[in-house]
Amino acid sequence: MAELDYRSCFGAGQDVEVQKRMLSVPKIDNLDDLIRELRKAFATDHVNIDRVMDLMSSYKSNPKDWMKYAKFDRHRDDENSFYVCKYTRNLVDEGNGKYNLMLLAWAEGQGSSIHDHANSHCFQKILDGTLREIRFAWPPESSEEEEREMEVISETTLNTNDVNYMNDSLGLHRVENPSHTQTAASLHLYCPPFESVLLFDQRTGHKTRGKVTFWSKYGERTPFGAISAKLDAEDYENN
Ligand SMILES: [Fe+2]
Repeated sequence: MAELDYRSCFGAGQDVEVQKRMLSVPKIDNLDDLIRELRKAFATDHVNIDRVMDLMSSYKSNPKDWMKYAKFDRHRDDENSFYVCKYTRNLVDEGNGKYNLMLLAWAEGQGSSIHDHANSHCFQKILDGTLREIRFAWPPESSEEEEREMEVISETTLNTNDVNYMNDSLGLHRVENPSHTQTAASLHLYCPPFESVLLFDQRTGHKTRGKVTFWSKYGERTPFGAISAKLDAEDYENN
């Protein structure tokens, strides 16, 4: 797995290698083009992080392309505070079984728990609005009784069309929509796909395993009853 903070490459701006690489990126006019090119990029088992980042950067977000996947849920005022303020995960493409491409819809003020990425690559492109990413160091292995505040490594603001990369070797993170007046949407690619993640308590460093599920698939709402019957609310990061 490559260990690369891609933003440092892109931030350089003058980097000739990056400019040369971008010249090899095909024209991507819409989300369907991006989906097609991503499938090609994952045709082999080798994950070329630069290539995927370039493709996602090349696509300029157009709400007409992705609006049907952007299903917000502002009404999760369940008594269980664990899953209040959770974004929704909406499946866009299964990438021939090699990855999941999904749109995350963040209503005002919604955010994720601190989580790992199950040894997968995580690519993220902001489609609309602004997201804040807070990265944390992995907490040291400790006993159940020991409690230690998790260490913040960095805080980054991601704006529309920014692309970000994350994997477990870079730490853990929480992502949130800091705006209380605007929604946000982001496109995420996880390779390989995963069904559960580790969730962390910032105050204690304690972790639990949570399942991840889809709020909708291909623009259609996932039947909620089938999910809620199987899972306790505390059991999952999102649905
Ligand atoms: Fe994440």
